[in-house]
Amino acid sequence: MSRSLPEPWRVKVVEKIQLLPRDERERLLVKGGFSLFQIPSEAVFIDLFTDSGTSAMSDWQWAGMMQGDEAYAGARNFFHLQETIQDVFGFSHFLPVHQGRVAENLLFSTLLTRPGMIIPNNCHFDTTRANIEVNGGTALDLVISEGRDAQNLHPFKGNMDLVRLLQLFEERGDDVPACMLTLTNNSGGGQPVSLSNIRAVSALCREFGIPFYIDACRFAENAWFIKQRELGQGHRSVAEIVREIFGFADGCTMSAKKDGLANIGGFLATRNEELLEVLKQKLIVIEGFPTYGGLAGRDLEAVARGLREVLDENYLRFRVSQVEQFGAMLTAAGIPIMQPTGGHAVYIDARKLLPHIPQQQFPAQALSVALYREGGIRGVEIGSVMFGKDDPVTGELIPAPMELIRLAVPRRVFTNSHLEYVAGVLEDIRAQRHTLKGMRMTFAPKVLRHFSARFEEVEVGVGVEVEETAVAA
Ligand code: F0G
Repeated sequence: MSRSLPEPWRVKVVEKIQLLPRDERERLLVKGGFSLFQIPSEAVFIDLFTDSGTSAMSDWQWAGMMQGDEAYAGARNFFHLQETIQDVFGFSHFLPVHQGRVAENLLFSTLLTRPGMIIPNNCHFDTTRANIEVNGGTALDLVISEGRDAQNLHPFKGNMDLVRLLQLFEERGDDVPACMLTLTNNSGGGQPVSLSNIRAVSALCREFGIPFYIDACRFAENAWFIKQRELGQGHRSVAEIVREIFGFADGCTMSAKKDGLANIGGFLATRNEELLEVLKQKLIVIEGFPTYGGLAGRDLEAVARGLREVLDENYLRFRVSQVEQFGAMLTAAGIPIMQPTGGHAVYIDARKLLPHIPQQQFPAQALSVALYREGGIRGVEIGSVMFGKDDPVTGELIPAPMELIRLAVPRRVFTNSHLEYVAGVLEDIRAQRHTLKGMRMTFAPKVLRHFSARFEEVEVGVGVEVEETAVAA
């Protein structure tokens, strides 16, 4: 019998979780306007909302926290992080920030110098997109077409479409102050980018003199996929692959809340010393002195240690296979998911599961409500609530291309039996899926509306005139 290896860690500390009674869950849903962002964490049984900032730190990281040097300037933990970033990524210059979006804010508020500029990416994460748009730029997603097809089994569905990138550079190169690539492609399903694609994007950027930045949030998971799937890479260590990847880049933005295995933290690295100086001055205004960047010394230490630990291949093997097995459980239960499973999450195709709910009634939001109601489980909608737009003329919803719900798996937190429970709840929801209602948005802010939108439940089809409209770009 073939056996997969269990968790490569044992439990030293535990945290209580509990399933509240159903009527209490129901009350909280109504009180919170059917927004999962409004549910208190203590009322959630299995929280798969995000893999960001939710990792369990190791004893080695906690030991490092005790060695936090809380000096205002020049804390020893800064120098440890500097040495780590140099070793792991090969960048000599970096600025610590308290989380990834500050790195994005610094970069784009500086690079986007006039209206009409464009930042291409495989797919921009929502905060990246927001930081580009609030600075007057256009965030352009150029992932390969396979990356938009939920069932396509391409091994690197996060790859950039090189033909479209070349066309953009040829036609509008002067308007492109930087090119990004997100590893792994979170908004496209946690799908990896191949080493050869990274190399090719870098080469095109060099040819046109365009700086190339990597959104490095899940760099180690991406490198593990390269080792597993890319021809000629199997014999190399993940650490070696990571060094090669970042050798192609002019810099990166990083949220250490993902593959930094930390609860807070991030950084911006760049080889451009002139730019670094400008960003440093901005950092002092918005985050703090450049040797702590909005973080406590102990947090810098947790990140420094996390960045080394995440390269442990026993850890990565378990991590990626846990997510893969979770996907396989759901598939066995008849739940349609994006294939193949990505590195950090499973994405359920709510449109396929709930074809009776029109996109105007937010099927992925309806499913996320059902998950909490039935099992105290929290997942996040990645569909028309997050990415849909209102037609400026008619006010009608222009739906997102896909209606997904993401079940993100925090690192080193849940065992496989937690995930089996989630699969069981979804199986029950599937059995009664025809009873699920649609959602009507009762409140929505203009920017990043999914964080604060509120809803009410409505009968399917009521108040919806058009079944299918144009799909938001
Ligand atoms: N880039 C990507 C690809 C991300 O997934 C995130 C965060 C960020 C940037 C921003 O980092 O949160 O530290 O400011 N993603 C989280 C998620 C929130 O749930 O996927 P941050």
